[in-house]
Amino acid sequence: MDKTEMIENFNSKIKRVLISEDEIKSAIKEAAKKIDESYDGRPLLLVSILNGAFVFMADLCREITVPCEIAFMCASSYYSGTQSSGIVNITMDLKQDISGYHVIIVEDIVDTGRTLNDVVKLLRARNPLSLRVITLLDKPSRRIVDFNPDMALFEIEDRFVIGYGLDCGEMYRNLPYIAEYDETK
Ligand code: IMP
Repeated sequence: MDKTEMIENFNSKIKRVLISEDEIKSAIKEAAKKIDESYDGRPLLLVSILNGAFVFMADLCREITVPCEIAFMCASSYYSGTQSSGIVNITMDLKQDISGYHVIIVEDIVDTGRTLNDVVKLLRARNPLSLRVITLLDKPSRRIVDFNPDMALFEIEDRFVIGYGLDCGEMYRNLPYIAEYDETK
């Protein structure tokens, strides 16, 4: 589908809301509380994986009350549309030395697990004080590599989802909720 068709079909492709704004908000509050409890007083760096995790990062970091720093890296494993390319590209790397930090990677969704498996290997080799992964969504039934996040706010079935940072062909990231994308129309 080209961009004009995508714009014309924008609303009809939103099949149903899977996770509401309120559900996301309260899950984030709970996750931030756990992070506050376990990192109090330790140098914490939140690393968000762009583009998909930008909304989750913005909301999560504002619920965390312990001192922390924020950083971004860009990793992509998807061509436009809903099919994975299987190749993970780091298109923007971190600028700081992470060896003095407890790092938490903030991700939107773990699907095949390839992206985070690669990113974790890369960051672990840089000797952070510790390294954990938090993801908003987890699709365990789609896993191809042996990777599991330390914290997943919602487990979902094998559905292509959009909204709250997640896209299809770069659209829908601005929806405030998580919806199922209709691949049939
Ligand atoms: P993985 O490497 O297969 O685990 O894929 C991770 C990346 O694929 C995520 O960061 C998303 O950008 C993208 N992705 C996987 N599943 C979905 C989905 O259902 N909707 C939108 N993007 C997805």
